[in-house]
Amino acid sequence: MSDTWIILGATSSIARTTARRLAENGATLLLAGRDMVDLEATAADAKARGATAAEAVAFDARDPATFQPILDRAAKEDGTLNCAVFVGSMPEQSEIDANPALLDGVITDSFTGPAGFLQRLAPMMEERCSGTIIGLSSVAGDRGRLGNYVYGGAKSGFTTYLSGLRNRLARSGVHVVTVKPGPVDTAMTWGLDALPFMTTPEKVTDDILKAARKKKNVVYTAGIWRLVMLVIRAVPEPIFKKMKI
Ligand SMILES: NC(=O)c1ccc[n+]([C@@H]2O[C@H](COP(=O)([O-])OP(=O)(O)OC[C@H]3O[C@@H](n4cnc5c(N)ncnc54)[C@H](OP(=O)(O)O)[C@@H]3O)[C@@H](O)[C@H]2O)c1
Repeated sequence: MSDTWIILGATSSIARTTARRLAENGATLLLAGRDMVDLEATAADAKARGATAAEAVAFDARDPATFQPILDRAAKEDGTLNCAVFVGSMPEQSEIDANPALLDGVITDSFTGPAGFLQRLAPMMEERCSGTIIGLSSVAGDRGRLGNYVYGGAKSGFTTYLSGLRNRLARSGVHVVTVKPGPVDTAMTWGLDALPFMTTPEKVTDDILKAARKKKNVVYTAGIWRLVMLVIRAVPEPIFKKMKI
């Protein structure tokens, strides 16, 4: 019996490298997202790499009607059920400042949509008393900054949500890993000014899967960001509000 992984936001660059690794380990993959053509291609690739099965399923974080069909499909799989969440969107802060209507979408994509799905999945995992949830949050959620405080606010909410979910599900033997990447070389950061300690989707995948295996609760990737954010969080507010970071 193979492990089943629901991958939300399976068109993400980091999801793609993670799906590849899970496929090589013989997992069954439910690849969830908005672009069915892209997802079908990833499913074909996963099968070629050794996945027990791989299927594209429609998911839109802004449309809760897409959630239940995925849960119904997952319920048909025996054994351990897992979920990895790669959904998120990060328009420039200046774009949101100019058009406040964009705010709801950012919060839904990066926080309330994924949380709404996990909230419905949680009872199924509790019933099976097994499984892992991996949630991609961000270092941006550790402190609100001038440059991306709406995205940061959404990720902060998602981090807090995952912390509570971990607390709840630990009682049933289900583990929740919160992942806090710094900048990663993906579509999300394409075209932005040079970012410090940039890492690759492959390295993030390595860190995620290692953290899941070792049952880590919170992982920073690249690891240096744990220290950087410790310092950034320690800056007193009167000084922080004058900084441009
Ligand atoms: N790249 C970084 O520097 C960085 C740093 C910290 C955290 N992260 C987080 O890591 C995760 C993966 O991001 P990535 O870097 O791999 O970027 P990415 O390639 O842009 O992936 C973002 C994913 O979110 C999906 N998505 C956005 N809105 C959605 C919606 N309403 N419904 C369904 N799917 C939606 C996108 O789907 P479409 O293909 O359909 O647009 C895409 O699959 C995200 O949660 C991101 O916030 C990234």
